[in-house]
Amino acid sequence: MPDLFTLAEAAMKIIQDRRSIREYTDEPVSEEDLQKILEAGRLAPSGENAQPWRFIVIKDPATRKKLGALGGGGSSRRFTAEYVSQQMHARFAGLQDEEKKKAAFEKLTSGQVSAFAATAPVNIMVVGKKDVWDMPYDTSAAIENMLLMVTALGLGACWVIAPCIDIRDEERVKELLGIPEDYKAVSLISIGHPTRPHRPRPRLPLHQLVFSEKWGQPYYEEQK
Ligand SMILES: Cc1cc2nc3c(=O)[nH]c(=O)nc-3n(C[C@H](O)[C@H](O)[C@H](O)COP(=O)(O)O)c2cc1C
Repeated sequence: MPDLFTLAEAAMKIIQDRRSIREYTDEPVSEEDLQKILEAGRLAPSGENAQPWRFIVIKDPATRKKLGALGGGGSSRRFTAEYVSQQMHARFAGLQDEEKKKAAFEKLTSGQVSAFAATAPVNIMVVGKKDVWDMPYDTSAAIENMLLMVTALGLGACWVIAPCIDIRDEERVKELLGIPEDYKAVSLISIGHPTRPHRPRPRLPLHQLVFSEKWGQPYYEEQK
């Protein structure tokens, strides 16, 4: 019987080590690893145990290229909307260096963000049955399970909603992959071997996130 404390530590390490990985080597993902990832998705919780998810494994370079192009276009339009509506300026308000800010805006709106799906040896398109109440949450739980298994296997992955944000793109994705009308293309998971280690992206501290009994009263004291 494994020690429970050790298991908790292992679980926390996998959660801490997960990163969005967007650059992959050419090394393929083994069938053994792929099955473990899909199995992790299958075991996710879902409202009423509806299990509304279906997974399409995509390795064909031509299909990956088309999904990459749809992802690039989707991200570019979303970030352009954020730029025009000033949301992006608010997000980067802390960045003083105007040159760096301009470069970040240019990169985000360039059409290159989220195009990396084309370079991942495997993509999993997560599809959800539309008439299931909790489908967005159910599929999200399945995706996170898969991302954690990817990390545990020493692989890298990214959750990519970009090709499915715009309903017109989603229709193109559905046509490309033959997804029936009563299912929604939810998100892509791009998976491969990472080219390099990545630093963690920042997170809000617990004292800003957790309240005691009612909204606004911090549960934890700020760590100085
Ligand atoms: C619902 C959702 C959709 C996402 N879609 C994209 C995407 O389309 N393109 C992308 O590059 N990253 C995408 N990401 C990854 C996030 O940018 C990333 O999780 C976040 O910046 C935190 O970084 P980390 O995952 O390395 O901790 C998505 C993440 C989530 C949860």
